[in-house]
Amino acid sequence: MTESSLEKIISLAKRRGFVYPASEIYGGLSGFWDLGPYGAELAHNIKELWWNMFVKSRADVFGVATTTIMPDAVWKASGHLEGFADPMVECEECKKRFRADQIEGKKCPECEGNLGSPRQFNLMFKTEGGYLRPEIAQGMFVNFKNVLDTMRAVLPFGLAQIGKAYRNEIAPRDFLFRVREFDLMEFEYFVKESEWEKHFESWRKEMWLWIASVGIDKNAVSELEVPEGERAHYSKRTIDFEFEYPFGKKELYGLAYRADYDLSRHMKESGVDLRYTDPVSGEKFTPHVIEPTFGLGRTILAILTSAYTEDKLGGEPRTYLKLKPSIAPVKVAVFPLVKNKPALVESAREIYKNLKKEFGAVEFDDNGNIGKRYRRQDEIGTPWCVTVDYQTFEDDTVTVRDRDTGEQIRRKIQELGGRIKDMLS
Ligand code: GAP
Repeated sequence: MTESSLEKIISLAKRRGFVYPASEIYGGLSGFWDLGPYGAELAHNIKELWWNMFVKSRADVFGVATTTIMPDAVWKASGHLEGFADPMVECEECKKRFRADQIEGKKCPECEGNLGSPRQFNLMFKTEGGYLRPEIAQGMFVNFKNVLDTMRAVLPFGLAQIGKAYRNEIAPRDFLFRVREFDLMEFEYFVKESEWEKHFESWRKEMWLWIASVGIDKNAVSELEVPEGERAHYSKRTIDFEFEYPFGKKELYGLAYRADYDLSRHMKESGVDLRYTDPVSGEKFTPHVIEPTFGLGRTILAILTSAYTEDKLGGEPRTYLKLKPSIAPVKVAVFPLVKNKPALVESAREIYKNLKKEFGAVEFDDNGNIGKRYRRQDEIGTPWCVTVDYQTFEDDTVTVRDRDTGEQIRRKIQELGGRIKDMLS
């Protein structure tokens, strides 16, 4: 994968309705992207998979959904007012801003003008009612006591949420990689201090399981032990899961040991006792925290990078997305062989209606020729295409085409639903 592969991915994402530049008709807004119909569906499938894997299927994790604006006191306690900043330099000529740690020399890379001296630039967006959250974690810390009180939670347990975070990045870049508004999927797992290493290891394994389940090429992922001095201000240990993006190896996810940093700071700032009482010993203490964090935009970018494939089918070059069927935005597309034969169209519509009732993410297409329809579905990663042809009227069968091999197998119409369900599981 190279920079030109990134251009190809961006172009496919735009052409096929995954990702559009935000507010494009007004020239776009740097660091913001919108999801189109297939991108929104893909994002929804990823979030659902995550929620099922880490919240619904576990008795020890509680889901919450907290606000995106939180008062200044939260960010004072969390350390973000003081420490959530990047070093920035501004060009004295063109006024463009750059991250000081990414600039070589003293000249502006855009206009060769002189750069001013570096200063710390806080990445939080201020509103008139508080700050837009730069991380979703704080919504979970400030609700720790509420959940303890209402859910009878016993250590170890976690709070999870999926939601927007906002960072006024100095230099947004690389498509969905570094943006100013993004979705996070994250949990705070509260443990006894003496057990933090055991839980850290166990979440590390879970993160690898997730990477495989969502369809990220695990050979392109590696761990980086983040050295002291480079870790976030709250972390005593961090492992970054890095991915080989087309523009190089960079962070995909993080796993941090936040110790008792956040609860202790909120206890001090709010004056509310956030300690946990052990139900057996009666001992009161502040729990420690393991935090696995997953950026949704980077997940989408890693999936698109892993799935983007160019090959030759029947001697013709083609592009397709080798998405896992479970997250593919469309599971099945149904076609009549040709458009101008009402009996074929009617039969295909009937099959489409039934499959749509069962699977939801099903499309009907009778535009253009069949080759074009296959190419469109290949590019959005649809795993199977069903075609109704003349033989359908003789033996109630249709062809089912496999996206990856292009192979077509005849199947009885009545068996379609069952077969697709088996293949999806
Ligand atoms: N609560 C911990 C936390 O927010 P982080 O490493 O600052 O940790 C979490 O961010 C994840 O959010 C990262 O691992 C990455 O996936 C994603 N992320 C961070 N900054 C981002 C940005 N500017 N654009 C897109 N995703 C970002």
